[in-house]
Amino acid sequence: MQIFEAVGAGWKFGNVTALHPVLFAVSGAMKLIIDTDPGIDDAMAIAYAAAAPEIDLIGLTTVFGNTHIHQSSRNARFLLDKLGLEVPVAEGAAYAVGQSCHDPSDHVHGPEGFGDVTEIPEIGANHAQPASEFLVDMARKHKDELVVCAVGPLTNIAAAIRLDPQFAFNIKRLVIMGGAVYCPGNVTQFAEANIYHDVQAADEVFAVPPQTVLVGLDVTLKTLYETADFEALAERSPNMGGFLRDISRFYLKFYKEVGGLEGCGLHDSTAVIACTHEPMFDMVETGLRVMTEGAEIGATRPDPSRPPVRVCRDVDGAGVVHLFTDRVASLP
Ligand code: RIB
Ligand code: CA
Repeated sequence: MQIFEAVGAGWKFGNVTALHPVLFAVSGAMKLIIDTDPGIDDAMAIAYAAAAPEIDLIGLTTVFGNTHIHQSSRNARFLLDKLGLEVPVAEGAAYAVGQSCHDPSDHVHGPEGFGDVTEIPEIGANHAQPASEFLVDMARKHKDELVVCAVGPLTNIAAAIRLDPQFAFNIKRLVIMGGAVYCPGNVTQFAEANIYHDVQAADEVFAVPPQTVLVGLDVTLKTLYETADFEALAERSPNMGGFLRDISRFYLKFYKEVGGLEGCGLHDSTAVIACTHEPMFDMVETGLRVMTEGAEIGATRPDPSRPPVRVCRDVDGAGVVHLFTDRVASLP
């Protein structure tokens, strides 16, 4: 596997809206579920969500991806305990649609998902419902209010849509970390990891929801978080920031060795930030299709025949980095 540097000219599509670097004030906390495969940058995103006053984190749903599914759920419960949050963790898919096995991304996230930090304890238990049922029920309960931020393979989201075709219409918004529409991928030249790990599910999801935002490598590799940023964070937030600093060493090494980058992308945190701070992003509107076979498998391609997705094309990267640090540093 190889990571490609996401710079250079991609081809253009649609109209780019103006960049508004000023943050807007949010009245009332946004109800949010993060669908996640923790994962180092997932842990950062969950910490950010816990710290952000605009966000009311009402649940985590877990999915295979960076880790095996049971590790994803165990890591999610461990993080919530560390953050002092009593929030349900509903376990989801172990494999991609139509598959029966999965190779976790150990080379990127370490053997247990948290880099060199291993032997993560099992704390508490998963919610009684599987992820797809939990998502469907929460979307009904919080109709038109719930934002779902999917930062792993889209298997659980596709399952929720299959379980209840109204799901996509009950949620307020689906914000996806995934894809590389105008830049190279990070698993192959064409494919980003979350999309690549379940191409079928991703293509199903882009065929349906009316309120989708895509936060792909087009923007997340413009939010590099460097060693010095982690050190500064750990100084201000010894417990949570210190933990993120410790787990990030492995991740930073990977980015340096494989991508030649001096920091790691705030992939999943950027998607969570897009849930509440849209004006920090330039978006273009286009339908999307995922290549589900062939040499370009996993590529996310504009397709005008599909429902419109708001694709993040540019970002105030320094603003995202600053916001992330500022919020997470408020944690103990
Ligand atoms: O390509 C980045 C995505 O893949 C992130 O969600 C990260 O956690 C990895 O799984
Ligand atoms: Ca992830």
